[in-house]
Amino acid sequence: MLIKRSEDIPSSDITPESTYLNRRKFIAGFGLGGALGSSMIRSQFDSAKVLEDEFSRTQKDWSRVRSDLDEELNSYEDVTTYNNFYEFGTGKDDPAKNSHTLKPHPWNIEVDGLCAKRGTYGLEEFIKPRNMEDRVYRLRCVEAWSMVIPWYGFSLKEVIDWAEPLGSARYIEFTSLYNLEQMPMQRSFVLEWPYVEGLRLDEARHPLTILVTGVYGRELPNQNGAPLRLIVPWKYGFKGIKSIVKIRFTETQPLNTWQQSTPREYGFYANVNPGVDHPRWSQARERRLGELRKRPTLMFNGYGEQVANLYSGMDLRLNF
Ligand code: MTE
Repeated sequence: MLIKRSEDIPSSDITPESTYLNRRKFIAGFGLGGALGSSMIRSQFDSAKVLEDEFSRTQKDWSRVRSDLDEELNSYEDVTTYNNFYEFGTGKDDPAKNSHTLKPHPWNIEVDGLCAKRGTYGLEEFIKPRNMEDRVYRLRCVEAWSMVIPWYGFSLKEVIDWAEPLGSARYIEFTSLYNLEQMPMQRSFVLEWPYVEGLRLDEARHPLTILVTGVYGRELPNQNGAPLRLIVPWKYGFKGIKSIVKIRFTETQPLNTWQQSTPREYGFYANVNPGVDHPRWSQARERRLGELRKRPTLMFNGYGEQVANLYSGMDLRLNF
């Protein structure tokens, strides 16, 4: 596996990130308590022990955390200032400047379609029973930049198993928030709103596919898709839908926003593939943010050993 969990470090190596901790973060952090039941979480809410545990997670020396491919992490600044989030503008620096209007708490997630657990759930309720972990993944965007990022989240499979999809369900569709006050750029016609993405159920169940609530030991910043976003590390970044408000199980393949917008350029699968160029540029090389020289792009973003079998027998030139 290419997943690498974060390393623990001596308490002497303390970074100043503690300043970002606040009560709201603690509430979210407790909710992510893995095996803890909800009543236990509540009863421990004010206990110093839980505060300490959550605190220590933010105190890692992130500069020492690398992926198994021995790639350096991009800085917190890279990750949070060079973004795509068209609801807040099309410039890479727009989301960091404009996304303060997004209100990620309180937040509801609707579960819909072909499953037993249809309904609307508060975010805490939705993520509380899940097994949260730090995981280092590459993000590779179609426009040929890449980053290595320590995300915090849980396997989407956990949600799927809990939701009990019916036998007829073959896909899962995700929808982002549609709210003109919080996302004023949705008044523009740059894309169809709300932003929609989808995965085949076997892709969605793959252990590398995660729902993310944090990055670099902190709560997910608005510009990165607070409070809940998807990461599918072997696919182009546009599959990583942000600020999710709905998941829906379907029999038919969802129409994702970019495919709807420009079907010649963006497909449903969007597997990173250096052999298939975007009609307007090559996908063979990429620039890691912070580096000058480009590097060759790896098939499936380097995760081929784990995911290639999902596509055996498929023509990946046609299914781009
Ligand atoms: N999700 C929504 N709702 N709106 C968007 O514009 N952009 C996508 C994806 N998720 C986008 C989105 C694209 S094109 C990319 S490359 C990634 O988010 C960027 O994630 P990052 O800004 O955290 O690096």
